[in-house]
Amino acid sequence: MGHVLALAMQKGGVGKTTTALSLGVALAERRWRVLLIDIDPQANLTQGLGADPSQLEYSVYEVLLNPERGSAFATLSTDAGVDLIPSSLLLAGAELELAGRVGRELLLRKALRAAREFYDYILIDPPPSLGIFSLNALAAAHHVLVPLQLHAYALKAMPQLEQTIELVREINPGLAIGGVLCTLADRRTNLCHEIEQQVRERYGPLVFRTVIPMNVKLAEAPIAGMPINRYAPGSAGAQAYVALAEEIEQRLAPGGSHER
Ligand SMILES: Nc1ncnc2c1ncn2[C@@H]1O[C@H](COP(=O)(O)OP(=O)(O)OP(=O)(O)O)[C@@H](O)[C@H]1O
Ligand SMILES: [Mg+2]
Repeated sequence: MGHVLALAMQKGGVGKTTTALSLGVALAERRWRVLLIDIDPQANLTQGLGADPSQLEYSVYEVLLNPERGSAFATLSTDAGVDLIPSSLLLAGAELELAGRVGRELLLRKALRAAREFYDYILIDPPPSLGIFSLNALAAAHHVLVPLQLHAYALKAMPQLEQTIELVREINPGLAIGGVLCTLADRRTNLCHEIEQQVRERYGPLVFRTVIPMNVKLAEAPIAGMPINRYAPGSAGAQAYVALAEEIEQRLAPGGSHER
């Protein structure tokens, strides 16, 4: 059975999507079977893989509306070596459509039941706001991956996230923090080192040894519609996500059978 990991941070622009995509392709290069799920109406992950959200037949929108169908019908294979359940423009309206539905936080979890057998890692990329999409991501996940941008107020957003995780545990009791990832690090500055130190003191072994540097190639790759391992394989950003994939593997090796 594969691991289901949700990126989470109720703050925009901290590297959730970049991490889902770059970590996903790094794990796929290491021969794990990887499914990426874009459950954000911004559709950044979908576009980062070169797909056009307005041209897709099915998306995560149909998956949420028909969870009993499973998720395979909306899953695309990509030439990046990962499978993708894309987002679509329709998703923006789904929040209202689902508002009256009983069990609306558990739709993704239900839809993914069968998929867990076919993948080693399933990575879910939600929007920054705590709405129905983020709740579906957290309710479906075993582990939360928390990207923390290394700047002065990095730790300020954590109490809110911890409250959210506590709340979601009422419907998903096993939910745990799988790791805290320092991102967008400018290690030339003292401030960055100080903040990293604070994060490590506060979260100890939960913090990945790997730190993702600020690297312009990581920002350029999605504009080119290519994952970082194809756009700039030798870049510091690409190498950092390979190192993160190795750490994830050590921490969260998938159980059951897999082809390596
Ligand atoms: N390590 C990095 N170095 C340079 N640029 C980065 C890095 N990580 C992310 N970026 C860029 O920063 C911006 C925000 O990153 P990203 O989209 O991954 O954040 P997010 O948390 O998913 O945002 P949102 O909450 O809006 O979904 C993007 O333009 C991305 O390309
Ligand atoms: Mg994002």
